[in-house]
Amino acid sequence: MRRFERKQNIFTNKDALSESYQPERIQERDEEIDEYMDALQPVVDGWEPNNIFLYGNTGVGKTAVTEYLLDMLLEDIATYDDVDLNVVSVNCKTLNSSYQVAVELVNELRPTGAEISSTGYPQQTVFKKLYAELEKLGGTVLLMLDEVDSIGSRDELLYELPRARANGKLEQAKVGLIGISNDFKFRDRLDPRVQDTLCERELHFPPYDAPELENILRSRSEVALADGAVEDSVLKLCAALAAKDSGSARQALDLLRLAGEHAENRDDETITDKHVEIAQDKLEQERVVEGMRELTVNGHFALLAVVSKAASRETPCRMRNVYQEYVRLCESAGVDPLAQRSVHNHLSDLRMLGILSAEENRSGSRGNYYSYALDVPFSSALTALSDVLSLTSVLDEIRATARRNDVA
Ligand SMILES: Nc1ncnc2c1ncn2[C@@H]1O[C@H](COP(=O)(O)OP(=O)(O)OP(=O)(O)O)[C@@H](O)[C@H]1O
Ligand SMILES: [Mg+2]
Repeated sequence: MRRFERKQNIFTNKDALSESYQPERIQERDEEIDEYMDALQPVVDGWEPNNIFLYGNTGVGKTAVTEYLLDMLLEDIATYDDVDLNVVSVNCKTLNSSYQVAVELVNELRPTGAEISSTGYPQQTVFKKLYAELEKLGGTVLLMLDEVDSIGSRDELLYELPRARANGKLEQAKVGLIGISNDFKFRDRLDPRVQDTLCERELHFPPYDAPELENILRSRSEVALADGAVEDSVLKLCAALAAKDSGSARQALDLLRLAGEHAENRDDETITDKHVEIAQDKLEQERVVEGMRELTVNGHFALLAVVSKAASRETPCRMRNVYQEYVRLCESAGVDPLAQRSVHNHLSDLRMLGILSAEENRSGSRGNYYSYALDVPFSSALTALSDVLSLTSVLDEIRATARRNDVA
């Protein structure tokens, strides 16, 4: 029988490739860091802080750079005894209103045991409690609101907090907000008055290109991987794949970590391109599964229809034909089909998630129409669907069709 055994060929510190690891050095962000430091400079000089809004795609270092700079700021400012700086960080991901963010801030500021409950107060009462805590703290307070777009349209806090001093609600505390978002539309959706204050200083982090990702990977692999555990081409390949897809350092690091795990599980001494390819497939599959969790049953059926068309090599497939297939599949599964228009919306969602691609075709008399195809490997889509749909017979039929047509 197999027993647990420690494996240490590949990794010397696997945690250094994980999300929670705080890198000692930030690569390839010198200009952005300069601009960020300028925006934070009033804190050092003892003036009221700027409100800062930082945006950029997922995985481009927004959180990592902010944490890095705020740590550095706290350290450097300790040498000036006339500035008293506190930093409070909150991730808004699961908090979808001003109310909830304010409760979270109050509880971050209060000692353990004195937290308030997350329901039951009028919003203004929670804001008052927040002001009271901030006043008690006094000095300069930077509030880092990561993934601030989760706050949605209930963004009163973003309006009120920057005005609290002017409105006499705060006297002692000088508060600065740092809002971070990977949703480009969030900024535009904000009330213009909120935009004016929250986005006093706007910073943008662009996606990384392949050479930048390669440098980030190299410096991380020095900490994480054993000497000689990685073939030269591997970092280049991980960087190229991530650059082509998203420009996300997270994706590049995930690829390298997964590839390393594969090598380790197979008792290989070094990570090779082959391991990276396997890792890429796996990540792609996870992305589809993840995306599909956000869909309703009808969304799953819309995807199933495209998958079914792909199995018989009929993609890209016109909307009309996708819809016919959708209705057929719904009926065979005893699900009420939606109207074509709603199915169209589901297909758009799938496109936004990067699961489908769509071509717009121009046709003379009847206007434009779309043709849909899978934007992920056939097998990933099918596996992901079998995870969420219990439709063995339909899925088996699609699998059989795919085999007949040599679709992998
Ligand atoms: N310039 C960099 N140098 C070193 N490591 C980096 C750099 N940029 C990003 N990373 C690493 O990549 C991963 C993703 O970065 P981070 O979490 O900061 O992304 P983000 O922009 O906040 O993404 P999201 O919008 O999804 O929250 C982290 O592990 C981070 O340490
Ligand atoms: Mg982040």
